[in-house]
Amino acid sequence: MSFIKVENLSAKYDTSKRSVHALDDVSFFLESGESVGIAGESACGKTTLGLSMIRMIPGGKIESGSILFEGKPILDLSESEFDKNYRWKKIAMIFQGAMNSLDPVFTIKDQFVEILKQHHYKGDFDKLILDAVASVSLDESVLKKYPHELSGGMKQRIVIAMALLLKPKFVIADEPTTALDVLVQAQIINLLKKLKKSGMSIMLISHDLAIISEIAEKIGIMYAGQLVEFGKSSDIFKNPKHPYTQGILESIPTLRENKKPKFIKGIPPNLAEPQSGCRFIERCPHAMEKCKKEPPKLKTDSGYVMCWLYE
Ligand SMILES: Nc1ncnc2c1ncn2[C@@H]1O[C@H](COP(=O)(O)OP(=O)(O)O)[C@@H](O)[C@H]1O
Ligand SMILES: [Mg+2]
Repeated sequence: MSFIKVENLSAKYDTSKRSVHALDDVSFFLESGESVGIAGESACGKTTLGLSMIRMIPGGKIESGSILFEGKPILDLSESEFDKNYRWKKIAMIFQGAMNSLDPVFTIKDQFVEILKQHHYKGDFDKLILDAVASVSLDESVLKKYPHELSGGMKQRIVIAMALLLKPKFVIADEPTTALDVLVQAQIINLLKKLKKSGMSIMLISHDLAIISEIAEKIGIMYAGQLVEFGKSSDIFKNPKHPYTQGILESIPTLRENKKPKFIKGIPPNLAEPQSGCRFIERCPHAMEKCKKEPPKLKTDSGYVMCWLYE
């Protein structure tokens, strides 16, 4: 039994004018203790995938598919059952940009207390809060402070501690290092590594593959709402199969080799009008006639690739 198994997951946002199909038929799995990195250009559906995993998509909804968490189909649970037993308790999320939405008029301690009250937590508040603060390597003196008194790195640690408060097994971290300077980024990555060692699984959402390679043994590459390639990080870095994956790996500048980064020309398609064939067709150097047909999910050594090249 996989720790997490996502099958054919689709989600959309209905707006007054149109539906945006932000997630289309996404599948992947993780074994116990494994972490996954989700990479892809802006607006390809990474955040929507994370939000789907905690069943909390503001303005949107899951259309179809299933998520098995430790074998349990969590999309079949009622909202109250999921909220009582899973959300924040087993599955938590560090929201994109959350460090900028700490409430300026309350101390950090008050904000932790508020979260526990919202969860109707009955145990010892202080113990849980001190555990959480210690788990992100902060001194308890931060609890008396207000957000403006903390550095960006400390605020990000607080936001991570808030997600860890009820000791979840699976944490979705949505761009947790974006907007931090390089040294602080490295500290946050080290913190995530430490949490991983303690047994937590992480879904690390980032457009930065270098950061993902430090944490995740699996990688999913998203393009225009689809997970176009999924597998072991080592396989994908060594032998990327999807032309989009190849493109993003070639676009990373390297200091060591004297190789110019290449850029993928063109822009992703509009998710309000998804085309029927391969969504990368317009930008792909290998496009063929049959790419106008929906690409198959072809098995690779450790996952799958959605590309006709490997048929
Ligand atoms: N609340 C919303 N209403 C309508 N469309 C949305 C909403 N949130 C996200 N989208 C659209 O869904 C798509 C995927 O967005 P998102 O999951 O945030 O991507 P990413 O995290 O990869 O940048 C984008 O086209 C985005 O504009
Ligand atoms: Mg996002």
